[in-house]
Amino acid sequence: MNATQEQLKVKLEQALVAAFGAEYAGVDPVLVPASNPKFGDYQANVALSLSKKLGKQPRAIASAIVEKLDVSDICEPPEIAGPGFINLKLQTAYLEAQLNLIQADPRLGVPTAKTPQREIVDFSSPNIAKEMHVGHLRSTIIGDAIARILEWKGHDVLRLNHVGDWGTQFGMLITYLREVYPEALTTANALDIGDLVSFYRQAKLRFDTDETFQETARQEVVRLQAGAEDTLHAWKLLCEQSRREFQVIYDLLDVQVTERGESFYNSLLPGIVADLEKTGLLVENQGAKCVFLDGFTNREGEPLPLIVQKSDGGYNYATTDLASLRYRIQQDQAKRIIYVTDVGQANHFAQFFQVARKAGWIPDDVELVHVPFGLVLGEDGKKFKTRSGDTVRLRDLLDEAIARFRVLLEARLKDEGREETEEFISHVSTVVGISAVKYADLSQNRTSNYIFSYDKMIAPLGNTAPYLLYVYARIQSIGREGNINFEQLRINGKITLAEETELTLAKHILQLDKIISDVEQDLLPNRLCEYLYQLSDKFNKFYENCHVLKSEEPIRTSRLVLCDLTARTLKLGLSLLGIQVVNRM
Ligand code: ARG
Repeated sequence: MNATQEQLKVKLEQALVAAFGAEYAGVDPVLVPASNPKFGDYQANVALSLSKKLGKQPRAIASAIVEKLDVSDICEPPEIAGPGFINLKLQTAYLEAQLNLIQADPRLGVPTAKTPQREIVDFSSPNIAKEMHVGHLRSTIIGDAIARILEWKGHDVLRLNHVGDWGTQFGMLITYLREVYPEALTTANALDIGDLVSFYRQAKLRFDTDETFQETARQEVVRLQAGAEDTLHAWKLLCEQSRREFQVIYDLLDVQVTERGESFYNSLLPGIVADLEKTGLLVENQGAKCVFLDGFTNREGEPLPLIVQKSDGGYNYATTDLASLRYRIQQDQAKRIIYVTDVGQANHFAQFFQVARKAGWIPDDVELVHVPFGLVLGEDGKKFKTRSGDTVRLRDLLDEAIARFRVLLEARLKDEGREETEEFISHVSTVVGISAVKYADLSQNRTSNYIFSYDKMIAPLGNTAPYLLYVYARIQSIGREGNINFEQLRINGKITLAEETELTLAKHILQLDKIISDVEQDLLPNRLCEYLYQLSDKFNKFYENCHVLKSEEPIRTSRLVLCDLTARTLKLGLSLLGIQVVNRM
């Protein structure tokens, strides 16, 4: 609900009490946006639901409410329609006043949260020495957008990269490292072993085909856990190399995230098991320590426990998550913890959330949320792969999007007979190419799978980043053409609304604060994308219908301010999605 709707709701509640007495205090007036703009902007349906209780015709109830309803400063006189709907139409003067307020506000009317709190967004979280795949790309893009929106609402956001930097695979990797780069273990220099992903593959091959190697690898795990200096050194080298590779992607995507990998919680793992033991939740099952869960069964229908310590004494992914959860609550004082991963991990989260709850580790004021997302599919509807069937490297994927947009851009420049510098072309291609990838991902409801298509995401028309960015650039070009100083105009310029397309655009702009608080709650960035897409569409309709530079004063100034406000709304909205704008394209 935006501020206007909120206000109308309160006034309707007061009218209800005035009409039928104090016992009707708190009755929901059922105020919803009108289904058809013909009937106004909002519609209150309470008369229909009260008919039985009051023993009156809904239309009579509606009349009684309207008689007591004072919305004369916001709406046209209310109308009763159909079986007893109360239709409310916002006054143009009211809309103008709201718009002029927003226009003068650097936050564009979006208030900060009433109770800012510490929120943790656990996202991206690739695994060391493995590649960062499209799943991690989704997590990175979605997690970053969520973090940006929460930050903009004034929350104290901790962006955590729960990197997979611990586990038995390191025994194998370190053993292989000793074999092929013995010198790396003794020098203080950074490691350069080339491509870490092929290194991982080779190590795995050795591991799978040589028993002595396997045994050495197991001992190496023990040495790592015991903190043996040379093993630790090798582990650090591997982590650093991975980190450098991940950073290239974060830089390209303009994403900030603080690394706090699984290894960080190592020393806390025995305490987790000990504390679970004390609560009586722990059960020994074939030497493993586990917790039995409600509602989880295996294929045979037998109860499926969560294993927190394996029979060989080792710990699991879930044990680390339990430790990190406690740490985040106790040390970080988080009030909401948001985990952004593929939907395939839904059970993992449901399970360790349940264990933590049973153990009494989750205070009532702490919310745990798994934010799942679907798969990225190729145009053939199967898992997204390169032509040769390999997983696509993220670097290549982003470069490809940039290159493909560049082809479109160069063709268009040629058509338009424009000469642009290499600097311009490369900057615009980079910004739009990356934005296209981000937007294509964010504009889908994250829970569904989506088909990755370079051609669709860079298309100039449709719900795409280029479409929105063109609208932004078009408004800037209006400014250039008319030699307009928008910043100056903002100070005194006032918006007046007359044409239908202006009113439609204005009403849409006023919804921004509601959309952002919705996303703050439900963590669905596609809602913001849809809002921005509609905004661009409504702007284009306005611009087709109304002259701007060619119109007479004072209409000209008003329309220029409306253009500027549209551009600012777009820029803000896109920035919350991690997308930059360009002034010209
Ligand atoms: N490293 C994991 C993966 O690549 C994601 C970690 C998500 N965060 C967490 N706290 N479990 O699948």
